[in-house]
Amino acid sequence: RAKYDFMVVSNRLPVDRCSADDAEIDGERWRRSPGGLVTALAPLMAKSDGAWVGWHGAPDEQLEPFSHDDMDLVPVELSAEDVELYYEGFSNATLWPLYHDVIARPEFHRTWWDSYRRVNQRFADAVAQSARENATVWVQDYQLQLVPQMLRRARPDLKIGFFNHIPFPPPEIFAQLPWRQAIIEGLLGSDLVGFQRPSDAANFMRSARRFLGASVKQQQIHVRNSAGNITHIARAQAFPISIAVDQISELAERPDIIERARQIRHDLGNPRTILLGVDRLDYTKGIRHRLKAFEELLQDGSLKVQDATLIQVASPSRERVEQYRILREEIEGTVGHINGSYDTMQNTAVRYLHHSYPVEEMVALYLAADVMLVTALRDGMNLVAKEYVAARTSHTGALVLSEFTGAADQLKQALLVNPHDIDGLKSTIMRAVELPANESRRRMRAMRKQILDHDVDHWSSEFLAALAETVVRDDS
Ligand code: G6P
Repeated sequence: RAKYDFMVVSNRLPVDRCSADDAEIDGERWRRSPGGLVTALAPLMAKSDGAWVGWHGAPDEQLEPFSHDDMDLVPVELSAEDVELYYEGFSNATLWPLYHDVIARPEFHRTWWDSYRRVNQRFADAVAQSARENATVWVQDYQLQLVPQMLRRARPDLKIGFFNHIPFPPPEIFAQLPWRQAIIEGLLGSDLVGFQRPSDAANFMRSARRFLGASVKQQQIHVRNSAGNITHIARAQAFPISIAVDQISELAERPDIIERARQIRHDLGNPRTILLGVDRLDYTKGIRHRLKAFEELLQDGSLKVQDATLIQVASPSRERVEQYRILREEIEGTVGHINGSYDTMQNTAVRYLHHSYPVEEMVALYLAADVMLVTALRDGMNLVAKEYVAARTSHTGALVLSEFTGAADQLKQALLVNPHDIDGLKSTIMRAVELPANESRRRMRAMRKQILDHDVDHWSSEFLAALAETVVRDDS
């Protein structure tokens, strides 16, 4: 087995195994995995000679390590039962809603927790086998919060970092979790625990204090053994994640992609305004609130279907989890209702696309969109907002951005909204639709500067530099 000095571990690998049937259509057996985590880490791993450990998306399939797009990938197998209990259950029906302001009600089941522990151990074992002496291991996201402690036990020589891509809840909400103490202990196996926002790091430190009685000084959490001696010090800090800005900007200037954007506009009947939403179909994204506001704007005549079209890309996500099934029915019912009421023979109010698209098509959509709507009720960061800004190299367009996203901390010149306030959302959408060109330019320029200075390379190098500087522990 190959050994590595640097390893990234996440629930998902950057590519998903697709079924033989799908492969017949595409001629490829790999498909890019959904979500922001993969978007952010793929550029780093393509350049690195480290390995990426994760699940390949197909239940009950065992695969050998392989290479794809210049990345060394080490697959971890999940059985159909693991997928149901660890992935759909504990990760996405317990932790996901709990960490996102309990927008949906989290479910607590001991069988799910048992599976979560077992699967985390499997990931830790896979890393322990492939990491070279004194290697650096970077564990990702809420599905693998026990891995740092498990790894530290097996391999005290490793440098262990963890990054949480989603929010970390305040202790008042985290308190509901029956296994809250084990989760904090799991994370504290890291030398450095990274979060999107300073408030997430602060929530974590408050929980460490409250549920473990840990002493916390200046972002440093002292971890003690049963005899009360400090065994090591874990640091908690915010590192806001970003995107490969240059890659998106270059695509946005490619003639074929500019032409594709023109064609999208043409296909919609050249409306004056194209509004765009791009999300995984997830209840945290505020798609219902967005549709409600849009519908009311059509209803009260502020927008006319001849002048304005909303394109909503909703990429399929976690389709076997009940809350996601319910959401899909609701959204599709609402879209049908809006279109039934306002469409004409020539014009469609909402173009709803339950698909995921390659990055080239996404950039064409960003170029075609006059107004980008990001109305998440809670979001760790939201990279779609940053991608839109990266694609607007001509400094045109308007970004409506929920204040409940991590991105709102950085994209301060966006038109910020509270998506729960439907009247506020409506007036902000109208402001975006009517934004004067000079104001649009000023805002877009400032936001582009922010992301150009803080792209994804900046994120990973800041994190890894801080990890390298963490204090060497004393395991006596
Ligand atoms: C978010 C999470 C990722 C996850 C992605 C897609 O971005 O932070 O960890 O991979 O959503 O969700 P999925 O359940 O399909 O992996």
